[in-house]
Order: sequence, then C-alpha cells, then structure tokens
Amino acid sequence: MRTPLLAGNWKMYKGPEETKAFFKEFVPLVADIKEKDILFFVPFIDLQDALLETASSKIGIGAQNAHWEKEGAYTGEISMGMLREIQCPWVLIGHSERRQYFAETNESTRLKIQSAFAHEIYPILCVGESLEEHEAGKTEEKVITQIKEGLAGLSSEEAKKMTIAYEPIWAIGTGKTATSEDAQTVCQILRNTLRELFGDTAECIRILYGGSVKPENSAELLSQPDIDGALVGGASLKAEDFAKIVKSC
Ligand code: PGA
Repeated sequence: MRTPLLAGNWKMYKGPEETKAFFKEFVPLVADIKEKDILFFVPFIDLQDALLETASSKIGIGAQNAHWEKEGAYTGEISMGMLREIQCPWVLIGHSERRQYFAETNESTRLKIQSAFAHEIYPILCVGESLEEHEAGKTEEKVITQIKEGLAGLSSEEAKKMTIAYEPIWAIGTGKTATSEDAQTVCQILRNTLRELFGDTAECIRILYGGSVKPENSAELLSQPDIDGALVGGASLKAEDFAKIVKSC
C-alpha cells in the first residue's frame, strides 16, 4: 500500500524568520497524524531552520532544486552533496517553473535524479502539460516523454524510492484545478508508463497531483485510486490551510 504524501512547495516565499514561525504553528497542528507523510520544499536559505524546527516531528524537508555536478564553477547553484551534508533528505526535480524560467530539460531532470540517488536523497519528479498542449490533446504524449526521459537508466530499487508529481501547468497558481476524473486519467496513464518501465515496482511509486489544490478540493482529488497525495503551492504557505489539506484525505 502507498502511504499518502502531502507536500508543500513554498517556491520563493518566506525567509528564515517566517519559516521558524510557520513550523512553530504547524508542527502541533499535525502532531497526531501518523498514517500520512508530510513534506515541505523550502528555499535553500530556510532548509536548516526548517530541519531544526521539524526535528522532533515526522515532517520531512526538501530543497526545490539542486545541481547534478558534485561541485564546480556553477555560480548560484547548490549540489546534492551539499544537501546531503546538512541532512536534507528530499529534492524537487523539474518543477514547471524551473523548466519554464530556468531552461530545465528532460535531460537535466535525468541527471539530477541520478545525482540525488547517488547521494541518498529522495527525488520527486514533476511533469505536466501547458495549456496549449492540453487544448491540442497532447497531454499524454508530453507526460509520458517527461517520465521516460527523466527516469531513463533507473534501477527498480531506485524507482521504488521515486515519487512523481503530475501538475498541469495551466492549473498552477491559477485557481483552475483539473477535475478529479481528468487528474485520475493522467495519473493512471503515468502509472501504466511506470509499469511498462519498472513492472510491479510501479505499484510502490507514489503519484501526486498538483495545481491549485486547496482545503475545498483536496478530499475529492485525493480519493482517486491513482492519486496518492498532493503537491501544494499557495495553500501550503498558511499553516492552517495546509493542515486542513493534510486532514482532508
Ligand atoms: P499551486 O502550486 O498549488 O499554487 O497551484 C502548485 C505547485 O506549483 O507545485
């Protein structure tokens, strides 16, 4: 069985002071939740405070990106080894904003996933189609290519530790959510692709839905058989809202 995973993506919001205040409020709100995994992807500068504030809880902390090279002349970048050094166990890979504004490609997501596993960090690979692709009926083709190219070369053992996040780009930060049926259809296609690549291991891989998930729609989305959790942007910035989402499923 797949344990539900609720992940917050803070994007470029909150500095260290707000991070400390957030977790002081959030940790007690979910203290009695044992049967779900909770994660936050915070800005690099907040990682250590977030790790400290959540150390006595089950909440996981991750980075929103990292470089695949061990070290080198890559101004402004952070390596997986550096994340490992501060015991940051999770990393988000290939978020659509990284692909759109920072030229992330399927090849760079592949390299980053390989590097994450080499450093014993769990990656979450984000996939999803643009509005034009959605309207042109190209969703399936787009997400299957992102999965196949991003996960190329992974062993079954590694695949078991993988998480996928399906985020239609047109639903991110727009207030438009895919219907739960449409989200399920794409997540099922992803599961079938994972089965094709990794056989039965696909049953262990969690697939999250992301894109305008809120306390009002989370229960319905998360009740779908192939949706194992959510990746939440805006609604993860408020402790109370995110706690409601965690409790809703
Ligand atoms: P949103 O963002 O929940 O604000 O739509 C989701 C994401 O980008 O991961």
